[in-house]
Amino acid sequence: MSAAPPGRAAAQSAAPVRVWDLPIRLFHWLLVVLVSFSIVTAQLGEAWIEWHMRSGYTILALLVFRLVWGFIGPHTARFSSFVASPRRIAAYVRGGMREHGAGHSPLGAAAVLLILFILSIQVASGLFANDDIASEGVLAAWVSKATSDWFAGLHDLNAWFIYGAIALHLGAIAFYQFARSRNLVGPMISGDAPASEDSPTSPVRDGWGTRLSALILFALIACAVYFLAHLAPPALG
Ligand code: HEM
Ligand code: HEM
Repeated sequence: MSAAPPGRAAAQSAAPVRVWDLPIRLFHWLLVVLVSFSIVTAQLGEAWIEWHMRSGYTILALLVFRLVWGFIGPHTARFSSFVASPRRIAAYVRGGMREHGAGHSPLGAAAVLLILFILSIQVASGLFANDDIASEGVLAAWVSKATSDWFAGLHDLNAWFIYGAIALHLGAIAFYQFARSRNLVGPMISGDAPASEDSPTSPVRDGWGTRLSALILFALIACAVYFLAHLAPPALG
């Protein structure tokens, strides 16, 4: 039995492996663009509120897509593959936050759920909010002015949690880059990570069939959100 030459073995173990499917990567970078756009347009006043809401409705479609993809998507996208118990998270932290295989780490998974939750609160409250001028979310007409004002207050307050979550998110990525020499951003762009770092038993599913099903799913969700955004206000009386 002949052992593989060390150089070859190293090259093989560092071969890139697909860890993030294209739909997850597109979801992520679209979310980054739209959340940033929503934050900027929120500061620009009434002239930009229509665009603020359009961006928000698109974020709603992205979040619903991510929820469904978390059940039917490829391995690393599935909630069942990355949601960890508090005990596992504690063990990972005690172990110095080192190797954790492909996909989100146990602690990262908790952060991901938190970001998705905070964004959902923002979108849901926006749907019921009004700006005391001429604009309101599509569902504001279905509740009293006082309730709509309450949601507007929640919307304003929750924005601070979004800023905090983004700062933590970027801090965590910088920590892995500089303190753990682990580049997380590259795989979120290309989809691939060196097998030596992220060693899934097999690459995640990312063929054209998977991508097409994601596209069809997103198109269906986008249609539903479009109808929601154009919902007629309740009839008076
Ligand atoms: C993640 C997505 C969103 C972010 C980050 C966001 C952020 C913000 C922020 C920071 C403000 C406060 C502006 C200020 O008073 O200085 C605001 C206002 C507003 N947003 Fe959003 N928003 C989002 C989604 C939505 C959605 C989906 C809608 C409705 C369809 C919406 C409707 C409104 C309205 C009506 C206001 C004015 C009322 C208020 O000040 O609360 N937003 N948004
Ligand atoms: C508005 C700002 C951002 C938001 C709302 C956001 C949100 C998210 C979410 C929800 C995930 C989980 C992906 C999933 O499984 O669905 C994620 C992961 C990730 N994000 Fe962001 N992100 C933001 C900005 C950024 C930026 C600017 C970078 C790069 C510098 C980045 C790099 C990453 C990476 C590398 C991961 C994967 C982490 C891992 O390997 O576990 N994000 N982000």
